[in-house]
Amino acid sequence: DRSNLVVRLPRRPDNIGTPRNDLMEMQMKALILSGGKGTRLRPLTYTTAKQLVPVANKPILGYVLGHIQDAGIKDVGVIISPETGNEVRNYIGNGKQWGIKVTYILQAEPAGLAHAVKTARDFLGYDDFIMYLGDNLLHHGVKDAIKEFNRQSPDALIFLKEVDNPQQFGVAKLDRKGNVVKLIEKPAKPPSNLALVGVYIFTARIHDAIARIKPSFRGELEITDAIQKLISMGCKVKSEILSGWWLDTGKKDDLLQANTIVLDEYIKRQIKGNVDSRSQVNGRVTVEKGASVINSIVRGPVIIGKGSRIKDSFIGPFTSIGDNVTLLGSSVEHSVILNNAFLSGVERLEDSIVGKNTRVIKNSIRHKALRLMLGDDSTVEV
Ligand code: TTP
Repeated sequence: DRSNLVVRLPRRPDNIGTPRNDLMEMQMKALILSGGKGTRLRPLTYTTAKQLVPVANKPILGYVLGHIQDAGIKDVGVIISPETGNEVRNYIGNGKQWGIKVTYILQAEPAGLAHAVKTARDFLGYDDFIMYLGDNLLHHGVKDAIKEFNRQSPDALIFLKEVDNPQQFGVAKLDRKGNVVKLIEKPAKPPSNLALVGVYIFTARIHDAIARIKPSFRGELEITDAIQKLISMGCKVKSEILSGWWLDTGKKDDLLQANTIVLDEYIKRQIKGNVDSRSQVNGRVTVEKGASVINSIVRGPVIIGKGSRIKDSFIGPFTSIGDNVTLLGSSVEHSVILNNAFLSGVERLEDSIVGKNTRVIKNSIRHKALRLMLGDDSTVEV
């Protein structure tokens, strides 16, 4: 094992000897991981890339790109999969909306986060880069951490967050100076409560570490193994402990939680659609253009998308209603209803996600039978 021989990869000639400054900050690239399978969010991910599932009516990837833009990064690589790549391309386009230049990088198989970095090797060259998982959301973005990285000049900087259940995460052990000395995946006896967040800043040394790791028991090239290898090569790995929230939207309950927190944080009272005189709209509620609220009660924070029609209904806090949704005689709270869904006579829907073009209808004609046509991998609690 030659892993403790430190191999210094050459920095680009124009960087040698120059201290990091604002100009170099501009040179940092971003790598957004927008491939993967998204199995835990099925059936939504049969028709939508996980990163494009909306939170408060905006795709998660939109928040990620906003943070990249805020940090002043211009050169952005996006990892895409053969299955959902086109959809991701359609959403980001040429990146003009965020003032970035986009390079799409096809990862033929979701063979791990470190494999994604390997796949992007040509795009990344010898530059520093921030890697951002396309289904993760950070409260305060990445600007401060990039500043810290530029100030301290480590070989890598990882983002950490204090959690209550470190057993379920990758966990970092730090020394007294805040250097990362060890990473442990889902430890039975966690050395700290600091979980690894899905955002990392790397120098080109990470490529050397990735070249020295093997696939894990689940057959993936793991980024935690690569960072651990970096440490054992004698490289300096620093950390930034997040004070704001961090949301991973990989599962149903995570997605509902993300929706709750983002609505609470960002929704303003903004009524662009029509609310009739028989309706009550209380608190921070956004009603988009062309939406109508008729004889209904809406209690914020809530967003109602373009062209949706809410009639004789109740919408409780922490609910996102997409575009062109119809809600008739129904009651919905703490839920996400995606575009073109149709709900009629549904008495009390809570903690639910309803996919695009879905119909949920109370059937009062015959005896109380449930009549279902559910997509594969659906969950229904009756
Ligand atoms: P994960 O949530 O770990 O993986 P996944 O998307 O395959 O989901 P699931 O476990 O439910 O099947 O991935 C984190 C992020 O990284 C996500 O945005 C997808 C992306 N990713 C890639 O781009 N390439 C990969 O090889 C992997 C594993 C993930």
